[in-house]
Amino acid sequence: MDQFVIQGGSRLKGTVRIGGSKNAALPIMAATLLAEGPCVIRNVPDLMDVRTMSKLMGELGASVTRQPDGALRIVVEEESNSHARYELVSQMRAGICVLGPLLAKRRKARVSMPGGCAIGARPVNLHLRGLEALGAQIELQSGDIVATGKKLLGASVFLGGPFGSTVTGTANTMMAATLAEGTTVIECAACEPEIVDLADFLNAMGARVSGAGGPRLVIEGVQRLRGTEFAVIPDRIEAGTFMIAAAITNGEVALSQARLDHMVAVTDTLRQIGAIVDASDGGAVVSSTRRLNPVDVTTLPYPGFPTDLQAQAMALLCLADGNSAITEKIYPDRFIHVAELLRMGADIRKEGPTAIVTGVKRLIGAPVMASDLRASAALVLAGLVARGRTTVQRVYHIDRGYERIETKLQALGADIQRVNDKDSQ
Ligand code: EPU
Repeated sequence: MDQFVIQGGSRLKGTVRIGGSKNAALPIMAATLLAEGPCVIRNVPDLMDVRTMSKLMGELGASVTRQPDGALRIVVEEESNSHARYELVSQMRAGICVLGPLLAKRRKARVSMPGGCAIGARPVNLHLRGLEALGAQIELQSGDIVATGKKLLGASVFLGGPFGSTVTGTANTMMAATLAEGTTVIECAACEPEIVDLADFLNAMGARVSGAGGPRLVIEGVQRLRGTEFAVIPDRIEAGTFMIAAAITNGEVALSQARLDHMVAVTDTLRQIGAIVDASDGGAVVSSTRRLNPVDVTTLPYPGFPTDLQAQAMALLCLADGNSAITEKIYPDRFIHVAELLRMGADIRKEGPTAIVTGVKRLIGAPVMASDLRASAALVLAGLVARGRTTVQRVYHIDRGYERIETKLQALGADIQRVNDKDSQ
């Protein structure tokens, strides 16, 4: 198993290119199951989750190949197997995104129930509500969701839950509705840029989706969808992680190919903390003065502050000059990183879904354990600024969602090495 060994203290300086969005690419890959003919998708990051999704697509009869120019070519060659197995869906919850396309195109789907993960329970009741509204029959068999629907019919459905809408639930319902007969209206749809990107992709295939980016999606069903070419949006969470890396190391980092318009809450929060964020042509430049102000951060559905940057923001606020309150309104249990940051000398007190972070003068390097993708990124950020050596174990979590993070950080001047556990003993 690989680990990162980080020697803290380097100021990051230089330019980093932001890759394509993981959370846009994965549902778009699943959506190719709807197409008749090949799809070519550009700007798909080379990540563990993308490889897992490629494997799943392969089992479902699609051929997925990386072209010499880096684009992913996906063509469905046969449709006999519609079973997304537990072994794959349990590795990557976005596997649930094949449910809507399989049901719509093949009239049946069997997809393993994903189950919980390190960030909380993560139910799928809203996905099922969306598909049932279109007329699907759904039952649970041996831990699998079995969905059938000879004919899907357009309908109105409300996808709000106790924590707001659902991103992949909106994706599943929208994808299924593209081939339903009649018009579907999704109320309380997720407004995330990844949903807009998926709607743009579906429309490029010949679908008729309008309203994406707002809470009301209208989908007029069509008979068939064709293959198309498409480029995925930049990853706003990778971009935010590098912005925080610049701020926490008191550095100056230019992001290329980033979409600042997708990051209004993050930019606002970083500016309140004291970072300087300037838009540049095709990206942004982030630098920081020495002093970090405390702020209160509440994670919310888009356009609010993203839960996927909560842990990284916490690492930064550990060094602010005062108390910050970080409240998690999407995943109230997404705080596993707190215990690891405490091992590095942070001062954090948890009260329900809120963490009170009292800034300390410095963090101190320590061996820490990655528990989920974004928590691991937070530990890397803390390691970059900590005094001495930090080892982050189980970095396979970070490889799920960040492409070569250590190489990108090294290019900015960070002292970070990937070593195999065995080599380091
Ligand atoms: N929820 C329900 N019922 C459902 C679905 C969700 O109650 O049927 C609840 C969840 O428990 C949560 C909230 O609704 O409290 C929002 O969950 P959502 O369904 O939007 O999350 P998701 O679609 O499973 C995506 C991202 C996550 C990101 C969340 C929130 C992908 C592949 N994953 O998950 O990304 O945290 O939206 O923005 O798009 C990550 O990249 O590290 C990651 C976890």
